[in-house]
Amino acid sequence: MLNFARHRRLRHTANLRAMVRETRLHKEDLIYPIFVVEGENQKNPVQSMPGVFQVSLDLLNEEIEEVVKLGIKSVILFGIPHEKDEVGSGAYHDHGIVQRAIAQIKQQHSDLVVIADTCLCEYTDHGHCGVVENGQIVNDASLKLLAKTAVSQAKAGADIIAPSNMMDGFVAAIREALDEEGFVHIPIMSYAVKYASAFYGPFREAAESTPKFGDRKTYQMDPANRLEALREAEADVEQGCDFLIVKPALSYLDIVRDVKNHFNLPVVAYNVSGEYSMIKAAAENGWIDEKGTVLEMLTSMKRAGADLIITYHAKDVARWLDEQSDY
Ligand code: PBG
Repeated sequence: MLNFARHRRLRHTANLRAMVRETRLHKEDLIYPIFVVEGENQKNPVQSMPGVFQVSLDLLNEEIEEVVKLGIKSVILFGIPHEKDEVGSGAYHDHGIVQRAIAQIKQQHSDLVVIADTCLCEYTDHGHCGVVENGQIVNDASLKLLAKTAVSQAKAGADIIAPSNMMDGFVAAIREALDEEGFVHIPIMSYAVKYASAFYGPFREAAESTPKFGDRKTYQMDPANRLEALREAEADVEQGCDFLIVKPALSYLDIVRDVKNHFNLPVVAYNVSGEYSMIKAAAENGWIDEKGTVLEMLTSMKRAGADLIITYHAKDVARWLDEQSDY
């Protein structure tokens, strides 16, 4: 008599598979990114990201209504200002595009969790995430502006501050500034582990934030490094962050798992623009099944250790989760 394990016993029917499923996607896992733009009646399609738009404030309520109806609990906001300057003043203007968007959303749906991406690159004329002096991105001078940005976003009503700039010490600087201004209760979702990735290409079209010279490799991480991710995350935990983001997600699932194993904070995977665009392009060509690949990818991110996922697929996923499915 042959003796071997019968793994297939537990795969026999859909209900049986559902009973032994180890990982599940929930709507509560999803964070939906929204690009807000100055002007009126703007719903500008992002060419490289089918289904993603830059939306002006007068059309934002509609978008938020849809998101809330679908059962999504959280959005992350990126602003595209009218004018950019050397020091990114639009990022910390009390009536900047993101500040107004935050206030508007909180008035409409106070329970929707509004996350503010805290960075300068969409607001600087050179497109870098910090202050530039003699062609260098200067760390400590940038911290002051990032802290100002975070405070202005919290004043506008942001529920969570998500600094994505990769300057050293940004969590400490932002935490101190928030606390001094009475925002001790506002959590920091740190882009602790952010690689210098080619997968951000489509986002830079959406956010109009491509650097005018050089690249981001002096502040974002080398994709070849694993231990460095733990050093980055450790520093941010020590400085008081409340969530740890790993970005991008798909090519960095090993890092998601490492971070999950080493720290006891919620881990967020950022399913970035290039990952979205690849799926969209292949699906539009009829080369892959969009629903199947997206659900498999996001489930894999959770299996790797992500508690939350920032994803441009969020609205579609929420719809798919409402359908009966084998996922
Ligand atoms: C801002 C920022 C970027 C992304 C999120 N916040 C772009 C960058 O670092 O160049 C990328 C998100 C994506 O590709 O979906 N610093």
